[in-house]
Amino acid sequence: MKPKVIIYKKVDRKVIDFVQETCDVTYFENLDSDTYPEFLHSLKDAHGILGSLLKVDKTLLDQAPQLKVVSNISVGYDNLNLPELSERRILATNTPELLNETVADTVMGLMLSTARRIPELDHWVKTGQWKSNLESQWFGVDVHHKVLGIIGLGGIGAAVAQRANLGFGMDILYHNRSRNEDAEQKYGATYCSMDELLEKSDFVCLMTPHTPETEKMMGKREFEMMKNSAIFINCSRGKTVDEEALIHALQAGEIAGAGLDVFTMEPIEMDNPLLYMKNVVTTPHIGSATHETRFKMAMLAAENLVSGLMGEIPPNLIKAR
Ligand code: GLV
Ligand code: GLV
Repeated sequence: MKPKVIIYKKVDRKVIDFVQETCDVTYFENLDSDTYPEFLHSLKDAHGILGSLLKVDKTLLDQAPQLKVVSNISVGYDNLNLPELSERRILATNTPELLNETVADTVMGLMLSTARRIPELDHWVKTGQWKSNLESQWFGVDVHHKVLGIIGLGGIGAAVAQRANLGFGMDILYHNRSRNEDAEQKYGATYCSMDELLEKSDFVCLMTPHTPETEKMMGKREFEMMKNSAIFINCSRGKTVDEEALIHALQAGEIAGAGLDVFTMEPIEMDNPLLYMKNVVTTPHIGSATHETRFKMAMLAAENLVSGLMGEIPPNLIKAR
């Protein structure tokens, strides 16, 4: 009998076909209040699940007694309760590396958009507010040759450092659990303490995964240490930031702006003050969301899933820490 698999996120037909070769697939393009009851029902005899951002906790796992593999279409896996999974001998996998360049592009986009106010100016032009006597009101600040501080210099951070240093002539500071000698050599990245990074950077880019240790690592104290002219970029996870402290720092002028792809609550609630600040540029957690990269991620996730279900060690097995 073929193992039963649930795909709970919209993926390319080729991905479904690949999984279908060895498994019985139940497919949900997305989970919402309409599809969730049916999803829960299918979980009862599912051996594998494939998708992203679903909270896989004890409550969910209690509904899935047959589960063997949980395959994330994402590099981050803070949606997974790893101790609980390993207790139940369920394998978990993610999709590292192949999204690095795409997310780094997003980071650069947010830096440029915030510093040069691109979304705001787009709105001005399209609403007929382009009056040449107001030109100085459109000024932004330079990105090139500024100091970029990267918190968490893994694969994505290194791809950001490459663009920023080789392309934009920026000086790179970084803070990380371990030294990244490759980035030091290639992009002149300088390792420094968190405090020094915050004090010296014109742009602070947060790229660390969300773990109990990194939860709310950017708080009141950290924003106060940043330059008043600095711009904060977050493409990691919303929960690595104390969002109230960020809102306060922006309102009080402790920092000059923010480019945010991730939020404490996703989708963000419409009464969140961040949505009403001109110096804040938002995107809906789309760091890796290009057609090419999402296809590759879904395919890799499918390969991880199938290999786990076939009794092999999946290529991107997440090891309990
Ligand atoms: C996206 O947020 C990811 O973790 O891949
Ligand atoms: C979000 O980036 C995801 O993991 O799908």
